[in-house]
Amino acid sequence: MAIQISPSILSADFAHLADEAAAVADSADWLHVDVMDNHFVPNLTLGLPVVESLRKAASLPLDCHLMIEDPDRWAPAYAEAGAGSVTIHAEAASAPVRTLREIRNQGARAGLALNPATPVQAYADLLPELDMVLLMTVEPGFGGQKFIDLVLPKIRRVRELIDAAGGTVWLQIDGGVSSETIERAAEAGADVFVAGSAVYGAQDPSAAVDALRAQAQKAAAS
Ligand code: DX5
Ligand code: ZN
Repeated sequence: MAIQISPSILSADFAHLADEAAAVADSADWLHVDVMDNHFVPNLTLGLPVVESLRKAASLPLDCHLMIEDPDRWAPAYAEAGAGSVTIHAEAASAPVRTLREIRNQGARAGLALNPATPVQAYADLLPELDMVLLMTVEPGFGGQKFIDLVLPKIRRVRELIDAAGGTVWLQIDGGVSSETIERAAEAGADVFVAGSAVYGAQDPSAAVDALRAQAQKAAAS
């Protein structure tokens, strides 16, 4: 299980996104882009035009996390815009299978996100349609929140489901990931870690990515 780190630009300086992306280009695996519409979550960030520009300005592949209503309508366009991965929320999608297939047809990896209180069992049969499951470890909407430990058993359950299905689906967690929390999430079976404030709040974002990866690798191997 390879550990990957996806720094969230939600905690970066939005006036200098290209520089902020470059700051982690040599250390991170992905650039996590939080799209919020002020309806699905009580916050508003950025949309397709910014993703299109970032795609040209950043060398890392974009990991787009859509916290929006009606992802069935909007998600394929993010894949078409060149995102390497597009994740929709189970709570917001009315036709997740169709939308996940459209994302893949556009050449991106397809992800399904679950909020902390959303049970995984209803979605277990969707695993063959997925490249990644994203388990939120905070309520979505804002960076800098506290990691919700209640999600740890769900991380273990999803890890078991993925391994039983052959182990190719990635298990991402997002929210409150830091040097304090990454080890227990890695032990529980997560392999892709989004980190916003822990990376962009650090003096040296690239060194913060390296340190988080080393901690996760050690915990996952133990
Ligand atoms: C929250 C976003 C996260 C956020 C994480 O809704 O989906 O990606 O940037 O920020 P931290 O790592 O600060 O909790
Ligand atoms: Zn996110």
